[in-house]
Amino acid sequence: MTAGEEEIAPTGIDVTTPHIARIYDYWLGGKDNFASDRAAAEQVMLATPTIKPGVTANRAFLSRAVRAMVGEGVTQFLDIGTGIPTANNTHMVAQAADPESRVVYADNDPIVLAHARALLSGVTAPTSFVDADLRDTGRILEEAGRLLDFERPVGLLLIAVLHCIPDDDDPRGIIGTLLEGLAPGSFLAITHPGIDQLPEQMAAAEDALTKAMGFRVTFRTHEGVSAFFSGLDLLEPGVVPVQDWRPDADASPSPTTGMWGGVARKR
Ligand SMILES: C[S@@+](CC[C@H](N)C(=O)[O-])C[C@H]1O[C@@H](n2cnc3c(N)ncnc32)[C@H](O)[C@@H]1O
Repeated sequence: MTAGEEEIAPTGIDVTTPHIARIYDYWLGGKDNFASDRAAAEQVMLATPTIKPGVTANRAFLSRAVRAMVGEGVTQFLDIGTGIPTANNTHMVAQAADPESRVVYADNDPIVLAHARALLSGVTAPTSFVDADLRDTGRILEEAGRLLDFERPVGLLLIAVLHCIPDDDDPRGIIGTLLEGLAPGSFLAITHPGIDQLPEQMAAAEDALTKAMGFRVTFRTHEGVSAFFSGLDLLEPGVVPVQDWRPDADASPSPTTGMWGGVARKR
């Protein structure tokens, strides 16, 4: 670790051991990563060259999905599994589209929380952070309710997090409980690594991520991801590779990324 890194490392955080959230930050071109994270990130990139374009396209989807929801009149967002807030994070995109937008982030990783608290400390716009596991739906809703008005629609973002929830932990039930707490007209946006896109590379990525996260991650098929939207009205163009979901008019063609994405409205 260099002296420069020590200066910007959040207090009490070990930056000599690579951490998945900072590895992810490196892939995104963020600044909250250190030499150990960069070395580990480069190793995964050797095994899975699609990982960097995949996470970049995933973040670009997040921006387009948030702007689409603001376009539908939504000004409140609950972003669970947020990662380290980096360029174009949810509150930046939402508040650029509508300065009144309120954003609650939730994540269960203490390192993400330490970075997030440091990064969000200077943000004056209505934004808060909940330290909770996605499975702890009651707590997330209760704490998010301090900032969000659940009588009005909310945009629920589960961006690249559901692969951390195995089928045995009932991800569909978790989504159902969260949506029950939200008003009609709310939206659900999901992105998810697809095991049926680029199967060889995604299988390698699934193994590499399992090692980096310290628990088995579950990549899912188009059918599996689509099932998370059951009972909702999917916005066009449905569940598609993230780079194909309402691409910006001036976007250059993106490489295949291995990520499924979609947005749906609660009736
Ligand atoms: C791949 S990152 C995605 C970050 C961000 N949503 C994005 O797409 O850029 C996954 C994030 O989900 C968090 N996470 C993983 N499992 C979780 C769980 N069970 N509850 C809450 N957060 C979780 C991790 O800590 C990490 O920050």
